Order: sequence, then C-alpha cells, then structure tokens
Amino acid sequence: MPSSIITIESPNWVIDKPNLDWIHALCSGKVLHFSNLEFEVSDQEKSLFVPEIQNPKARNISVGADNVLKGAQGNEKSLKLLRELIFRYRNSANSLINSLAPKYSPSLKVAPTSFRPFNIEERKQSWRADDKRLHVDAFATRPNYGERILRVFMNINPNGVPRVWRVGDSFENIAQQFIPLIKPYSPFQANILKSFGLTKTLRSEYDHMMLQIHDAMKSDLSYQQNSHQSEFKFLPGDVWVCFSDQTSHAAMSGQFMMEQTYNLPIDALYDPMSSPLAILSRLTKRKLV
Ligand code: SIN
Ligand code: FE
Repeated sequence: MPSSIITIESPNWVIDKPNLDWIHALCSGKVLHFSNLEFEVSDQEKSLFVPEIQNPKARNISVGADNVLKGAQGNEKSLKLLRELIFRYRNSANSLINSLAPKYSPSLKVAPTSFRPFNIEERKQSWRADDKRLHVDAFATRPNYGERILRVFMNINPNGVPRVWRVGDSFENIAQQFIPLIKPYSPFQANILKSFGLTKTLRSEYDHMMLQIHDAMKSDLSYQQNSHQSEFKFLPGDVWVCFSDQTSHAAMSGQFMMEQTYNLPIDALYDPMSSPLAILSRLTKRKLV
C-alpha cells in the first residue's frame, strides 16, 4: 500500500520551485509533511501555552479573515501577544502554500488561523465533534458548494509531545463505501435550515452528502477500528498540509498546535477531477451543486 504521507525536507517556508510530484500527491489526498521548517517561539510567547488561555465556551482560539482574535481569554498584553503569534504563523503558512502551489495563489481565500492549546485526550466531546474519530471535514452551518478546504498544521508543543494522527482510506473508497448509506437530499429541509438561520446559505446536495459521510464515518465504531489506516507521530516543529475535506484523518493525542485553513474554488485546482465534488458527482451521476 503506498504511504499516505510524503516527507519533504525543505529548510525554508518558501519552496524554491514548485514540485509537480508533491502537488500531485496533495491533490490525490496525501499529507505533505515538512520536517524541518523553523518557527521560533519566544519565552514570553511560551507563557501563552496553557489551556486556560482558551475561553472554555469556545471550540478553538482563532483569528479570522476579519483579523479579530476569538475564543481566547486573558489580559490585554497576553491577548496582543497571542494575536501576533497567530499572525506570524499565518504569514509562514501563506509563504508555504504560495510557493508550494502557486496556481492556487490568486484564488486562495484565507480562512481562520487557529491556536489549539488543549490536550486532545482530555477533551470531552460528542461523537460528532470528536476528531479522534476518522473523518473528512464538513461543516454543518457553512455550506461550501464543493470549494476545497486546505489546511496547514504545525505541532508547537514546547515539551516534546508529538501530535498523533491516523490517516485513513482514499476519498474514492470512502465515497464508494458510504454513498449507499446516505439519506436522500431534501431541498425542503435545506430551505428550512436556511430560514431558521441554521445554515449560512442553502445547503447543497454536495454539502448534504459530505456531512452524511462525515457522520457515517464517525458513528461507525467498526469502521473506526478496522478500516485501512496508518498512524503518524508529528513531532514538535513538524508542519503538515492536506486537503482535509478529502484526506480521512483523526487526531488521537497531543497538545498545542497551530493551524491555518484556506478555502479554494474548484476552478483553481491543478486536478479538479480528484476533488470530492468531482468524485461524488461521478459516482452518483448527478450534478450536486
Ligand atoms: C481535525 O482537523 O480533525 C483535528 C486536527 C488536530 O487537532 O490535529
Ligand atoms: Fe478534521
């Protein structure tokens, strides 16, 4: 079985020259792992590395495209420091993606940048929100009509603790297995959700299918245990990139991570046919958006 992860030794966040093998791997759902990028965290910033920096009611600490810090608590000085740390990470991730896959640059939409200070193993969550279960990313309130979700992660644990991930089966296999279990799309229900403000825009059939697949994967304990998967330990300093709407993933343990999300329109892709929208449309023989 070919590995679902490709390790790249680039000393710099700016990649010298786009590498088509890496781009092809990313587009086919593999994780690109950068093992020696530098990201300095000052001693002063290390004081932010406590779970209490997160507002207990928030799912994450993040800075959105509006540049506002959300989900954190603390005095003005620490919040300013935290916001600057998050911005520094965003700039590094931007350099990486713009040089790794320059075709994306004109269309890349910067979505939230997050700092995740919680210990994964101590987090209590419903099965649906539990990212220790293999899943592909799909959001209940924000339909995306097939737009891609590209993410850049970095383990910044100051105590040597790895972030342990599982990476699962290909999206093609996942789609083949779960499509027969998907409840039919109801435009009526999509309208209701929108009119009650439960979705930001009308949920498309594509968004419905992605959510159903997300839930069907997470709720099936036998699938969680027995499906094709590999474990990876991302060490402090490791950076990894994947299309998280396509790459089946689960975060099993670890603490303190930075993450940058991007949204990417389908027509900006190197290989639109490998996208979840193209795969689901081909298998269902339907136009889903
Ligand atoms: C996820 O995106 O499912 C979680 C990733 C992580 O926390 O490492
Ligand atoms: Fe996820």
